[in-house]
Amino acid sequence: MTKTLFVLNGPNLNMLGRREPGIYGSITLSDIEEMCRKKAASLGWSIEFRQSNHEGQIIDWIHEAGEKAAGILINPAAYTHTSVALQDAVRAVSLPVIEVHLSNIHAREAFRHTSFISPAALGVICGLGAQGYEFAIEALVHHLEQ
Ligand code: DQA
Repeated sequence: MTKTLFVLNGPNLNMLGRREPGIYGSITLSDIEEMCRKKAASLGWSIEFRQSNHEGQIIDWIHEAGEKAAGILINPAAYTHTSVALQDAVRAVSLPVIEVHLSNIHAREAFRHTSFISPAALGVICGLGAQGYEFAIEALVHHLEQ
């Protein structure tokens, strides 16, 4: 088994640090990438960390992960609440997927309470900020190594 996880980030997450700091804090996406790299390395794994503002690109990366990775951590951002195509992509690859959100989507606007990804995910972590990414990496590795 390859010891690589894909960490995929959806639209506007490249703006972290400047984007709605009252909700998302001051951490940047490159800070999160660094945290993920360190967490994975501490467990003997590596990550492929990517971000796109384009739905089709994220779908292509999920398919690529199906060939190259053992699992996926995904923060689909706003596509969480809109994208049947992302759910289908997750279902199309036989990999464990953990959905992560920095904010607690259930404590926000009603339109954020629905996730198209959750029904196809192994698990969901939300509301714990960037630490949620670390927890998801630990959970994926635990799931894959047990
Ligand atoms: C988010 C929550 C989504 O509702 C929102 O559209 C985002 C970020 C989060 O990480 O909290 O872009 O996925």
